[in-house]
Amino acid sequence: MYVCLCKGVSDRMIREAVSDGARSWREVRERTECASQCGKCACMGKTVMREAITEE
Ligand code: FES
Repeated sequence: MYVCLCKGVSDRMIREAVSDGARSWREVRERTECASQCGKCACMGKTVMREAITEE
């Protein structure tokens, strides 16, 4: 599913960023550009990131 419509970032892309080593929201943002436009997706993006880190 899409987390970020502005930048076309899916939950899968966030999970991939985490499995590639991203460990902070800043790092996930740098890698995916999630929440770099309107910012409405930040809360959902962080939730997906935390889940992905917990599941590692
Ligand atoms: Fe992600 Fe707008 S929906 S920046």
